[in-house]
Formats: sequence, C-alpha cells, structure tokens
Amino acid sequence: MDAAEVRVIGLLHPGEMGAAVGRCLTGREYEVIWASQGRGEATAARAAAAGLTDAGTIAQVARQADVIVSICPPRAALDVAAAAQGFGGIYVDANAVSPATARRIAAVVADGGASYVDGGIIGLPPEVAGSTRLYLSGEHAGAVAALFEGTALGACPIGPEPYSASSVKMAYAAWTKGSSALLLAVRALAEAEGVEDVLLAEWERSQPALAERHRQAAKSAASKGWRWVAEMEEIAATMEAAGLPGGFHHGAAEIFRRAQP
Ligand SMILES: NC(=O)c1ccc[n+]([C@@H]2O[C@H](COP(=O)([O-])OP(=O)(O)OC[C@H]3O[C@@H](n4cnc5c(N)ncnc54)[C@H](OP(=O)(O)O)[C@@H]3O)[C@@H](O)[C@H]2O)c1
Repeated sequence: MDAAEVRVIGLLHPGEMGAAVGRCLTGREYEVIWASQGRGEATAARAAAAGLTDAGTIAQVARQADVIVSICPPRAALDVAAAAQGFGGIYVDANAVSPATARRIAAVVADGGASYVDGGIIGLPPEVAGSTRLYLSGEHAGAVAALFEGTALGACPIGPEPYSASSVKMAYAAWTKGSSALLLAVRALAEAEGVEDVLLAEWERSQPALAERHRQAAKSAASKGWRWVAEMEEIAATMEAAGLPGGFHHGAAEIFRRAQP
C-alpha cells in the first residue's frame, strides 16, 4: 500500500491514547472514523474533541476505512479485530499484547483479507513531538509510519519481522510497570510486617528516589491498574515463550489486581 492512497483511517477506539493518536491523523487532513456502538460518553467526547467522525459500528468502519488502527484495552484487542471482519485494507494493532496474541490477531485479520502491521506505543498520549513512539513492524510498517510524518507521534518502523513491535512493547513495559509493581509489593510487605516507618526512613537515607516513585506507582495503579493486569499477563506469556520465568509478571498482575480501588 502507498500512504498517498490513504484517505480514511478507522480508529478503534478513541480512549485516552487512541483519541490523541486520532488527533495526530486529523491534523494531517485524513478523515478519521470511529464506532460509537457499545462505547461510553467519555469516549464520544474524546472523539468529538479530536475531530473524529462517527461511523456507528465497527462493521461500517471496516467498510469505509483504508487503514484501521486498533488502540484499546489489551484484553479486547482480539475481539476488536474479529469485529472488523470483512476489512480488506491495512490493520494496525498497536496494543500492549504478546507476540503470540499479536499472531492470533494477525491470523484473524488475514482471514478477512486485510494485511497486518504490528505496533507498540511507548510514551504518553502524544501532544508534543518527542513524547511518544509508535514502533511498527511487518511488511507495510513503512507505509503506516508515513501516515504520521510531521505529527507529535514518532512512528518508528523497525523491520519486516511480523511481531517485533509487540516484543519491544513487552520488553519495555516489563521493566517500567513490572518495577512499579515490585515497589508496591515491597512497601505492602513492610506495612504487613509493621516496619513501614523504618523502611521509609531507610529509603530516605539510601534510596531517596523510592518514596516518590512509590507514590507515583500507587497513583497510576489506582487509575490504570485494571488495564495493566492483562498487560502483565501478556508479558508473563512473552517471557515464558522465550524460555524465561513468567513469575515476576504473574506477580505484577496480581499486585495491580489488588490495587483496584
Ligand atoms: N494511556 C497511555 O498512556 C498509554 C501508553 C502507552 C500505550 N497505551 C496503549 O493504548 C491502549 C489503550 O489505552 P488507553 O489509555 O487509550 O485506554 P483507555 O483510555 O481506557 O481507552 C480504551 C478505549 O477502548 C474502549 N474499550 C474499553 N473496553 C473495551 C472493550 N472491552 N472492547 C472494546 N473497546 C473497549 C474504551 O471505550 P469505553 O470506555 O467508552 O467503553 C476506550 O475508548 C492500550 O493497549 C495501552 O497499552 C496507552
């Protein structure tokens, strides 16, 4: 596919990240469409603010779009791909899923006649250039990267291997979110053992960055931890498939499960 032929891009769905990615694309004069069916008011408000057009259903998005970009909770990624059956363009899955899940998504996408491009997003919802990268891999990665030229989202094609972008996301988040979960666990341990004050005083002396890091980790886990449970399980599966222990991230999933308010 030539990026110059693309007119309409489907965005499933305009969450915090998806809406910001959609705004990058409307800023380049693409028509960006989404599907309101089944989504809530906050998603509709984000879509409107980003200049997205409501096509109603995922089936309609599949009919009208040249490219579909899936940005949704990781546990919904396979269902979203299945709902786009009949789509014949380029389908980009940019979710935090394991290479094995990405392979399943690619199979569903290919069954319907579309081409799969693997993606992985690192950084905050893109507002300013330099804040966020979209890693892309697979045969059409370069064409997808071209859609984002000059936008706040830095698109990085990393080669033709079909699932490398998911591997990058898994490895990166294994450390960032995995280490946050470890910090939450060790402080909970100190609390359970009645030595939290002593631990905090020792952190102050020898690890002065940890108290603030813990505060941030607890805040993020309370608001986004529900989504990270599935992401940690995807990382555990990725580790195990590579012959590494998945236990760290099964544990991290449990920590984020417990962090729900
Ligand atoms: N936010 C970040 O900083 C960040 C950073 C890097 C990567 N990412 C990646 O971006 C993806 C989405 O994150 P986000 O922050 O945009 O999440 P989000 O703000 O929670 O948005 C998720 C979107 O998906 C929809 N959704 C929720 N449950 C669904 C389901 N079961 N089936 C289909 N759609 C569903 C939501 O719609 P309703 O709520 O209206 O139902 C919403 O529009 C994830 O894969 C994540 O790893 C996010």
